[in-house]
Parts: sequence; structure tokens; C-alpha cells
Amino acid sequence: MDTRQTVTVFTDFFAERGHVSLPGARLVRPPGDPVLFTTSGMHPLTPYLEGRPHPRGERLVNVQRCLRTTDLDEVGDHTHLTVFRMLGSWSLGGYESSQSLRWARELLVDGFGIAPGRLHATVFGGDDRTGPDTGSLRTWQELGVPVELTGEDNWWSNGPTGPCGPDSEIFVWNGDGPPRGTPTTDPGWVEVWNHVMMRYRRHGDGSLTPLPRRSVDTGMGLERLVMVLGGSRSVFGVDEFLPWTGEVSRLWGVEGRALRLVCDHLRSAAVVIGDDVRPGGNGHGYVLRRLVRRTLTTLWRHDPSRTLADLPDGLLGGTLDRFGQPPAGSGRVREVLLDEEHRFRTLLERGRKVLSRQRFTGPLGEDDYRYLHDTHGLPRELLGLLRQE
Ligand code: SER
Repeated sequence: MDTRQTVTVFTDFFAERGHVSLPGARLVRPPGDPVLFTTSGMHPLTPYLEGRPHPRGERLVNVQRCLRTTDLDEVGDHTHLTVFRMLGSWSLGGYESSQSLRWARELLVDGFGIAPGRLHATVFGGDDRTGPDTGSLRTWQELGVPVELTGEDNWWSNGPTGPCGPDSEIFVWNGDGPPRGTPTTDPGWVEVWNHVMMRYRRHGDGSLTPLPRRSVDTGMGLERLVMVLGGSRSVFGVDEFLPWTGEVSRLWGVEGRALRLVCDHLRSAAVVIGDDVRPGGNGHGYVLRRLVRRTLTTLWRHDPSRTLADLPDGLLGGTLDRFGQPPAGSGRVREVLLDEEHRFRTLLERGRKVLSRQRFTGPLGEDDYRYLHDTHGLPRELLGLLRQE
């Protein structure tokens, strides 16, 4: 099942059960949101999970483009992406979590064809503030799905304050041979779907108060689900990544971790630019700048003549299209990437020249860093890189 079919099966399943399909929000959060980017499908729905009635009703479904920088250092492995899509379903005060978990098993087994023996769940086992999530535990036991109880791994919140609650994660066995161990003991278990029982609001002082209405928020990473359905060990092996891995290795001959990092960062950068972000020194622009510069640093390690100008338009346009952005924006994406490439190249040349001065041949002190930053615009991380050359 490819990515498009997977989306259709998911959204149809929930539409047949009375869920209204919502359009995805932009990646960039509006001013006033303490978080820069949309990090999950529930993120734009926060006020409704806190109790406000949603104009489209109490059963919702969507596909949301998301960006997570928390995992940036893990990008390059086989399961983490910076920009990805999340399939989500919500009950805003409608059905309870047990219904949500029952539908989850039904969809994974009957809709997506996953063998029941490849499923495992985790459930919140309680802490000093709240008891264990016995409702979810009982539901999984009735469904015959093995369960592991954990602590803070099964408590979900989107930030220091706001709606939160215990969650139940569903894992699919994707390892060698028959399933063994549990999600916390064997990495062959891949987390695919998270069901959050939104029951509390967390306040600035860390205290919890019950929400006026209990909701269920679920989210499933699309690329990771397609990976598991196809029996692949890598998100970079799914259909939508094949054009990226094919082009990037053909153009620049990079392999392994470097190939995965370049594909993730360039694809993510295209979508971020598609949502009107431009590289800059802080906020959204800084995240974009880091994505592009990490890409270039990786590409230039072996050949500084490599240029993003070689990226085919179809690759950029196809990516925008899949993320629900106008494919005609690919020209703009290219312009922004090349402009940032030019700036970074100029900065590196200036940095090399300045660092070749007698004064900077030894170890750099705080005064040197300050001077190089304030006078020459050379950030510390870049200096570290140049001195490794
Ligand atoms: N909020 C949960 C998550 O992001 C489920 O949607 O994993």
C-alpha cells in the first residue's frame, strides 16, 4: 500500500464512523502560540481539546504536516524525520478512549492488513499524581493485544502548559523473526499510533486540573506507517522518498547516514519554504537556515563545488504537491535555497580568511568568539567546523 492509498484508507475509515475531515493547518503557528511550528495534528486543535465547541462537530479526522526539531540530532537514522505528516482522529467529548482503541485495532488489522500478532500496546501505569489508565489496559486485554505498563513515556503533553493526559501507544513488530520482548526491551517494536486521553490541563506551576470535557486525540506518523506496512526498515525506503534518495545519490554520490540527512533536510526545507518561511537569524527562519546549512556542510565535506542548483524542479514541486502546497512554488523554493547557499558560501570564505590570521592559530577564547561573531558575523558552530577542515 503506497502513501496515497494509506491516507485514503485512514480517512475513509473514520469518515464512515461519522468523522468530519478537516483541512491541515500551515506549519507556521500564528503569533501568540508559544511553539514555532505545528508539531502534531492536535496542535491547531488545542482550544477545542480544552473545551471550546468545534464548529465541525465532535468527531474529526485529518492529515497534518508537522515539524519537530526535538529529534534533529536523530535525523539520519532510519525512523526520524524533521517534516512529516500525521494522520489524526479526534473525539471532542464524544466517544471514550476504549472505542478509539478498538477502532485502532480494527483499522490496523482489517484495513491495513497487519497480522494481529505483530501488535503490542503500552499504557500509562500511574505516578504520584494520577493512577494507572485501567480503562485502556482493560480494553487491550479484551482485544487480546499484549500490553506493557510504563511511566512518563505514556503521558502526553504538547508543552509545559495546556491539555495533557495518559496515552496508549501502539507498536508494530518490524524486527527479524517472530515478535519478541516488549516495546521497551526490543527495538524491533516500532511505535506507529498514539492515543491520548486528554483529561487534564497542566498549569504553569505543574499542577493538573480536570478538563471540563474528556477528549481523545490520536496521531500516527504517515511515513512510518507506510514503512511498516511495506515491511521496510527505513522511512527512506517508502515510495515518497524514492525520488529523493534516487536523485540525491545520483547527483552527489552520498550514501548511508549522509544521504538520509540530506534527503530529510532538503525535503523539509522545501515544505517550510512552501509555507512562506525565509532563512534568518532567529525563530522559524533560524530552523530553516540550520536545515539548509547542515545539508550544505554534509555535501561540501567531500566536494565544495556541489550546488543545490542541480536539484530537479520536479522533485521540489512533487514534494510541495504531496504536502498540499501549490507545486508551482518550486521556483521560489529553488531561489530561496540558492540564495542561502550563496550566503553560506560567502560566510565560509570570509571565515577561512579571518581564521588564517596569526591571532587565531591557537585555541580560541571567549573574547575571540565574541569578536569573530560581532565583527565578522561568524557563529561559534561555524568556527568549530572551519577549524576541523
Ligand atoms: N498528540 C499525540 C501525538 O502527537 C497524538 O496525536 O503523538
